[in-house]
Amino acid sequence: MKEEEARKRIEELSAKINEHNYRYYVLADPVIGDYEFDQLMEELISLEKRFPHLLDKNSPSQRVGGQVTKKFPAVRHKYPMLSLSNTYSREELTAFDQRVRKGLGGEPYEYVCELKFDGVAIGVTYREGELERAATRGDGVQGDEITTNVKTIPSIPLKVKTTDHISAFEVRGEVYMPHHSFVQLNRAKEKNGEATFANPRNAAAGSLKLQDSAQVAQRHLDCFIYGVLGENLPFSNHWDSLNTLKQWGFKVSDRISKCTGIEEVFSYITGIEAERGQLPFDIDGVVIKVNNYRQQEKLGYTSKFPRWAISYKFKAERGLTKLLDVIYQVGRTGAVTPVAVLEPVTIAGSTVRRASLYNQDRMEELGLHDKDSVYVEKGGDIIPKIVGVDESLRPAGATPLHFIDNSPECGTALKRDKGEAVHYCPNSEECPPQIQGRIEHFISRRAMNIDSLGQGKTELLIRKGKIHHIADLYDLTYEDLIGLEKTITDPETGKSRTLSFREKTVRNILNALQTSKEVPFERVLYALGIRHLGETMARKLARHFGNIDNLMNASREELIRVDDVGDKVASGIEAHFNDPRNTEIVNRLRNAGLNLAMKEETTTTAPTVLSGKSFVISGVFHNHSREEIRQLIENKGGTIKGSISSKTDFLVAGDNMGPEKRKKAEALDIPIISEEDLLNMMQDSGT
Ligand code: IVH
Repeated sequence: MKEEEARKRIEELSAKINEHNYRYYVLADPVIGDYEFDQLMEELISLEKRFPHLLDKNSPSQRVGGQVTKKFPAVRHKYPMLSLSNTYSREELTAFDQRVRKGLGGEPYEYVCELKFDGVAIGVTYREGELERAATRGDGVQGDEITTNVKTIPSIPLKVKTTDHISAFEVRGEVYMPHHSFVQLNRAKEKNGEATFANPRNAAAGSLKLQDSAQVAQRHLDCFIYGVLGENLPFSNHWDSLNTLKQWGFKVSDRISKCTGIEEVFSYITGIEAERGQLPFDIDGVVIKVNNYRQQEKLGYTSKFPRWAISYKFKAERGLTKLLDVIYQVGRTGAVTPVAVLEPVTIAGSTVRRASLYNQDRMEELGLHDKDSVYVEKGGDIIPKIVGVDESLRPAGATPLHFIDNSPECGTALKRDKGEAVHYCPNSEECPPQIQGRIEHFISRRAMNIDSLGQGKTELLIRKGKIHHIADLYDLTYEDLIGLEKTITDPETGKSRTLSFREKTVRNILNALQTSKEVPFERVLYALGIRHLGETMARKLARHFGNIDNLMNASREELIRVDDVGDKVASGIEAHFNDPRNTEIVNRLRNAGLNLAMKEETTTTAPTVLSGKSFVISGVFHNHSREEIRQLIENKGGTIKGSISSKTDFLVAGDNMGPEKRKKAEALDIPIISEEDLLNMMQDSGT
């Protein structure tokens, strides 16, 4: 066969296979049998072998896998992958609806209701109609690139059937393992004496991370697509986007519904709740989204969630089992959590052995007695919890259980602050989990990001007496570290390995510590591990006070004056800095060269380049999240407004900006600038 002929035949076979694949896996309406399909595939594979240079990276033959990925590289999402806020009751949904109505100022609106698939979120990018890249959600900002594995999922098109010319777009969806594949997989595992997966979600997640894509292909994963992002998309609402995605060849659930008013949403939920048990895959609720893109934009986002969507999670499944013991865990801030140890029980497909009891009040409310029979609930990704006791099964003479008085770790008498539910161990200095927890928090990715020091390593350093406080990290020397060693035993498998600090490890640790000195003040402040001080609050305080000294010297009134700072946060800060041990740590960190002040130009007190300028931000950006753009502007003295008026100086436009905003800006002659323009503007002025 001549090359030209081969090329034509390969194209023909690929098109046929893609079409049959689509009919089988997306439409569930095959027109040929397996045998015929296999024949076509075999012919294609053999031609591609004979003419290797004609092999296309998105040939349907790639579905069978074969490529091995040693390490899944981290990739930054072009559009952040957000999650949804959860509701569990119709009252909460009604409240959501009221917020939407208020946010839209009385305009009419519609919802699209969808299933909430219980699997693994992915984002798949297409360029010029071809699958380019697939990634997991990760932390929402960056995930792992798993393209090769995703290509083996037959319902995900490798090439899209679109006539609209859109150079690039990204679909979002949920990879899941259908029940029949899950049962098959676990049976095979059992037969081979391997550990089985607890539920289909874990199985899907585990499968996507297999190194050998041929094995992934054997796992029979599937994927529903529930959204699309991109520039110049040919629709202006979510409903149309889903229907267009269907036409482009994506698998979109047919259980989507357009609803007007919350009552219609309730009926949808009732219908799905009844149908849930018959579905061939797991769902853990439904998702409700405002349909119109312009309205979505108007409602906007909180720091974590869209305000235009919410999930309604189904009531968790319940099991009855025996309470064997209550143990008490001490966390990084000294908070003590009672945990119930249970006789193993299977709930919603997974084995539950422990359940959180939250705090003393919760324990007393349940009125737990020794060896009680308890109801345990587990739903989706929620930690199992005890929801009730079957008193009729209580053994005669059983004694009531009481919360402990002393720390199980260090024996110190526990404290409980007025108005607080949580007990804590005040021995922050010497209580082992607190020492460990503080250091782990300090080095964590969102804090100082010292990733060459994992949990095992910090544990070893603490045990060997090399570190006790976070400040000790910066005194570590090469000699302190080299040659340290310990044996780690995996509690699951019982296998042991030796962790030892060799030349390269030591160099990496010391370099990472050095680099961490560049971490900006707001993250250093978060890293200090002050009670109740989360990331967002740390950022606000850092920007407000500009440096650690101003914060440490601030009166309670000054603290409370900061947006969103309440009594709890203020008390946390006061208590932290009233402890001379903590001020000593701050001094040591200062001497080590950490950033304990905002860089000069970023404090709000210093008038800077954007001073007096008013900005409106709209759309999705390539290199920064919207929140980051907001901060960049505010750091330089600019102010952000929610809507355009004659007082607006600039409209910063990202992708998918609503047409209304553009129109208004144009009408008022307000310059529309891109993310790049904004960055240049800041750069040009030399700040
Ligand atoms: S929309 C901004 N739709 O639920 C909106 N998510 O907590 C983002 N999920 O990680 C998500 N089914 O993996 C959306 N029909 C659906 C979904 C869905 C399942 C998952 C998704 C995400 C999580 C959100």
